[in-house]
Amino acid sequence: MNKLFAANWKMHKTQAEAGETTAELARRCADLPDGREVLLIPPFTALSVTGAALCGRDWFSVGGQNFYPADHGAFTGEVSPAMLLDCGATFALTGHSERRHILGENDALVGKKTAFGLAAGLKIILCVGEMIEERKAGKLEEVLTRQIAAGLADVPKDTDPERISVAYEPVWAIGTGLVAGPKEILEAHALVRAQLLKIFGANGRQVRILYGGSVKPDNAAEIIALDNVDGVLVGGASLKAEDFSRIVLA
Ligand code: PGA
Repeated sequence: MNKLFAANWKMHKTQAEAGETTAELARRCADLPDGREVLLIPPFTALSVTGAALCGRDWFSVGGQNFYPADHGAFTGEVSPAMLLDCGATFALTGHSERRHILGENDALVGKKTAFGLAAGLKIILCVGEMIEERKAGKLEEVLTRQIAAGLADVPKDTDPERISVAYEPVWAIGTGLVAGPKEILEAHALVRAQLLKIFGANGRQVRILYGGSVKPDNAAEIIALDNVDGVLVGGASLKAEDFSRIVLA
């Protein structure tokens, strides 16, 4: 499976900024090594411009940061999976820690969104991760098991596993500059893989597991080489084309 390098731009970049960053990134990554894929996840307002700036480059795609699990309706402020697809997005995130902890999304809603998004034709990156208090209380396995079980509860077991990724993002490492060490990443990713194998059988091996949380140009190569790390989800260091291209080419 290809390694996935995903850029989560969160609530950053106007259309002009997104277009410029994307064009520069595409230039800098023109010689993308085999086995790598790049995913740009801009705010909704910059989805179309980001896709257009990629000029149909192979192995680059665009994703949405969020959607509501319904085809249409009275859901002010939300967009549907079909609307994301219409803007050129082929991927979307569910369960990002900022949506869980700032916007109040619970496990049940994350599960509903994950299943709905997949059924609607999106590839889904389900984000999971423990808070520092949970880690200190020895609850890493319990939290990951619960979030993955709930997140994938309604996903049909015969779903193409390559359309699903799980991003392990320890909450204490997101945007803090604190990165999980190799030992912590190996342990968490092994737990995630074991659960994926339980849920999907042998297909669980084809589900990508991404690491996210303060990935930077100088730690990306080490992280991406670890066992069970099939890509990275990058926030802060994905905003500048120079930094993100160094991660993609690391
Ligand atoms: P960060 O964010 O790279 O800024 O820590 C990662 C994320 O939120 O996906």
